Amino acid sequence: MKFFIDTANLAHIKDANDLGILDGVTTNPSLMAKEGIKGNDAILNHYKTICELVDGDISAEVLSVTFDEMVAEGKILAAIHPNIVVKIPMTKDGIKAIKWFSDNGIRTNCTLVFSAGQAILAAKAGATYLSPFIGRLDDTNWDGVDLIAQIANIYAIQGFETQILAASIRNPLHIVKCAEAGADVCTCPLSSILGLLKHPLTDIGLAQFIEDAKKM
Ligand code: E4P
Repeated sequence: MKFFIDTANLAHIKDANDLGILDGVTTNPSLMAKEGIKGNDAILNHYKTICELVDGDISAEVLSVTFDEMVAEGKILAAIHPNIVVKIPMTKDGIKAIKWFSDNGIRTNCTLVFSAGQAILAAKAGATYLSPFIGRLDDTNWDGVDLIAQIANIYAIQGFETQILAASIRNPLHIVKCAEAGADVCTCPLSSILGLLKHPLTDIGLAQFIEDAKKM
């Protein structure tokens, strides 16, 4: 399973990248706004900086909603760097745009996915990645990890090549459960990635070894 970091925060991106286990970055308009990135030039520059920091796929989301505008905007985003993946919302125009990008050799990440039916449509349109939002599903009392397992099963049966990118990860257990359920990628906040490190028995064991090492 690939690990992406889900942020537009450069310090978090550097921190995760320094671990040596980072395969890419996802962003969205909310994450960009949180970092105070405003205006076209600043947005494009920020994506460029992220591409220079991380050698992996970088999702850049379109802000427009119509097919023509998404295609125009996606072309500009894709021209920033070969690692850019154009992130497109799961809408009727979005599916048309994903098909257009797929036919024109531009990779896409279909975002805001909450059902298996949407996952089938995105795969048919040729999406490179599919982003089911598991944390937001959990928030509404639906099991997000169950959706990952269902989509993984459908894609395996049907031979779809779209990669399942588990998104809206809220904690380290989500990452473990998504790995079990067959996600190809997990995009996580830094806190969830670092949360995987933690176990009290590791801390207790290490403290003991350090103490005993003094007697050696
Ligand atoms: C990433 O691609 C998604 O935009 C992101 O994971 C959404 O996460 P949230 O539900 O925590 O906002």
